[in-house]
Amino acid sequence: MRNSGEIGIIGLAAMGQNLALNFARKGFRVCVYNRTSERTEAFMRDRVRGEPIVPAYTLEEFARCLERPRRILLMVQAGPAADQVIEALLPFLEPGDLVMDGGNSHYADTERRMQALAARGVHFLGIGISGGEKGALLGPSIMPGGSPEAYAMVEGMLTRIAARSEEGPCCAYMGRGGAGHYVKMVHNAIEYAFMQGIAEVYDFMKTALGMSSETIAEVFERWNEGTLNAFLTELAARVLRYRDPETGGPLVERILDKAEQKGTGRWAAQSALELGVPTPTLTAAVIARTLSHFKGDRERIGAAFPWPDRRAGFPPETLADLEAALNLVVLVSFSQGLWLLHEASRAYDYGVDRAEVLRVWRAGCIIRARWLGFLREVIREDPEDPHLLFNARFRGEVQGRLPAAGRILDLAFEAGIPMPALSTAVDYVLSMRRSRLPANLIQAQRDAFGAHTYERIDRPGVFHTEWEGETHPPGVG
Ligand code: 6PG
Repeated sequence: MRNSGEIGIIGLAAMGQNLALNFARKGFRVCVYNRTSERTEAFMRDRVRGEPIVPAYTLEEFARCLERPRRILLMVQAGPAADQVIEALLPFLEPGDLVMDGGNSHYADTERRMQALAARGVHFLGIGISGGEKGALLGPSIMPGGSPEAYAMVEGMLTRIAARSEEGPCCAYMGRGGAGHYVKMVHNAIEYAFMQGIAEVYDFMKTALGMSSETIAEVFERWNEGTLNAFLTELAARVLRYRDPETGGPLVERILDKAEQKGTGRWAAQSALELGVPTPTLTAAVIARTLSHFKGDRERIGAAFPWPDRRAGFPPETLADLEAALNLVVLVSFSQGLWLLHEASRAYDYGVDRAEVLRVWRAGCIIRARWLGFLREVIREDPEDPHLLFNARFRGEVQGRLPAAGRILDLAFEAGIPMPALSTAVDYVLSMRRSRLPANLIQAQRDAFGAHTYERIDRPGVFHTEWEGETHPPGVG
């Protein structure tokens, strides 16, 4: 297949293998390369069944296998590994070739690589790919970013392998520079928050309501029939039902309660802080994972910190309230993520169309959910407004669920159950609807101890006051 491969894939871990098969099954001629040849051999032997896939065992051979201009998709670990592969590949590339990074790379790395390759005349796209291993094989959600010319080189291929919803293929140009990886990062931050919300209501059902995994699974299945219809809701039910072959009990109860993370959620929180966009629920989900790691400390503190059990039975509407609460977490998480995207697109000149982002998230990706259709309508009503909360329909969905969320938070406190995603979601809405927050007192104190100045509500200007009395802690200053 010398010179005839339409797409080359580097990196044959599960995602790379499945994408190679997906491209090939859609009729594209694929060349594959992996750093260790054993994996390439195993892939060709165990998984390739007559699909037009050709293995290459050196990068030179790989480059020769591809038609010009070359289109190469990197499916290697984000971070230094991606830089190493690009460096090793460069001597075999020619101006006009295109390199795509389909991993979960940091958007700043993507922009750096894009510039470095542009200096050699080589195009570069940062492509967010969501849907896990199954999605890669059957149709992922694809979020490409970079130059429109580079995207035009692969648009046809990418839209062919993408998932489809009733709104078309789940692949669209996300914007300039690192936009693709930025959008994927926000997707993952919402993924973290959605998962955290699910974990919190599971904890409530288990700990406060004493429900079994099986019964909780039934609840998630029921919810999946309604507004909470989503891949993650359905997955929660499936996972809760799974029985451990060794013990016969629910496997989930045998799993150590320390949640891992590879970085995308944290990057989103960091980026939000840098851009000055409040994303408390997205950030709370990252922190909850971090906190879960301190298992030993939690056990030690918990043993010395009993929680009085003040439960006095639960009103019959508690499950309906929980459903409303989880809906609220989902809606608020999306609204925070979409505000972040709006500001990032402005700050970095990405040109992201958030309605397109929501369309691409409709199918194939981890956060696909029934709410996405509604959210897209809301965004389309006023694409330039950063806040979904400004939209009457969105506000109505949120407002109607607040009382239930408040009742759940009260009961959770009684039972000693932390609900960081839910409580930050409620706090966020309460804060964003307050025209006057107590930040005036913070400003007064800042001015009193540090002459940091303040503004007034009754006239323009910047003010400083020589505040009377003791303004320093006793014995300090
Ligand atoms: C996806 C997922 C995928 C991966 C995340 C998980 O959209 O298919 O987001 O990219 O599962 O990287 O991230 P953590 O390991 O940080 O949970």
